Amino acid sequence: MTNQLIEWCTSEIAGLKERHLFHMPKVHQSAVGARVIIDGKSVIQLSNNSYLGLSTHPKVKEAAIKAIEKYGVGSGAVRPISGTMDLHVECEEKLAKFKKTESCLLFQSGFTANVGVVSTLAVAGDHIISDELNHASIIDGARLSKATRAVYRHKDYGHLEELLKEARGPKGITGKILVVTDGVFSMDGDVADLKACADACEKYDAITMVDDAHATGVLGEKGRGTVDDQHMHERWSLTVGTLSKAIPVVGGYYAGPQIVKEYLIAKARPFLFSASAPPAVVAAVSACVDVLENEPQHHAKLWENTKFFKQGLKDLGFNTGNSVTPVTPVIVGDGAKAAKLSEILLENGVYAQGIYFPMVAEALSRVRTIVSASHSREDLQEALDVFKKCGKQLGLI
Ligand SMILES: Cc1ncc(COP(=O)(O)O)c(C=O)c1O
Repeated sequence: MTNQLIEWCTSEIAGLKERHLFHMPKVHQSAVGARVIIDGKSVIQLSNNSYLGLSTHPKVKEAAIKAIEKYGVGSGAVRPISGTMDLHVECEEKLAKFKKTESCLLFQSGFTANVGVVSTLAVAGDHIISDELNHASIIDGARLSKATRAVYRHKDYGHLEELLKEARGPKGITGKILVVTDGVFSMDGDVADLKACADACEKYDAITMVDDAHATGVLGEKGRGTVDDQHMHERWSLTVGTLSKAIPVVGGYYAGPQIVKEYLIAKARPFLFSASAPPAVVAAVSACVDVLENEPQHHAKLWENTKFFKQGLKDLGFNTGNSVTPVTPVIVGDGAKAAKLSEILLENGVYAQGIYFPMVAEALSRVRTIVSASHSREDLQEALDVFKKCGKQLGLI
């Protein structure tokens, strides 16, 4: 074997380490919940996306176990060959009903859903316009597409309108224009203004798409998402989402018109060329949708906890940015400080992940906190006490 690859990786990793950009994932020895065991020690968990605490919900676990007993562990193939079980179809119907859309199509992850939908629906001669803070999977979908691309400043719908006008100008785009935004932005916890976005898009006949990864289960009636929260069902084109956050299993989905679903079935490469979700996963997702429809207490608790914790951080004097959702950043100003804060929080019993460049600009380096319905008031008060101690230690407050 050539040494070139080993030498190249060694030198690249040394460079990343020098810039504090190399982090091995922490290994967890417990289920997803309010607390997590790391290195044998139980700490308060403020870094997972299981917003409603459904990972260990008895009905969800039971559905997964029953599915394994009936169907075994794998789906057998990609969807178009023999990987479509009645479980997949039922799950799509449930999700479509929940999202109040005509249809839904499952993907293996939120990442492949975004990549599949964006790259399949925007083709040569089309144009994609994306919010600058959109998720990496939207960016990668756009890169894979043969459409041209533009980026508008974060939530600046005036800028979006300028780009639309330019794109539709003389000698401009005659094909489709796809405008894509996250619903809740994952690093800042702020929310896209779908009305302002649609106002601009309607003037230039552009398709609207929202990535509801951090909004499903969080915003809207019973957690139906951003479109529902902003009463935009009649004016919005497409939704993509993940099944690994408030619905805390794994997978992704498209939700929107049936005819678009059929086109994705025919053309979307992740759907065509990668095996479908296993029975236990699909059954657990369906059970989660039932819980969302029938047990509103988890959603209510999530928001109670969010308000308490967010206000607590603000009262302590931390810079929490523009968040209006359970994702609350504690912005500290540089990567080294964010890493240090995360490290001493963990030493004091709180797991909250540091987020640095390239995920955010260096000056916006932060520790990101996410509360869930599974946290008790005592957990959150304890976490605030630890934040206070560590914030003072680092001179942040
Ligand atoms: C906004 C957003 N979109 C898409 C994804 C990808 O979802 P998944 O983890 O299901 O691939 C994520 C995951 O972090 C996300 O935050």
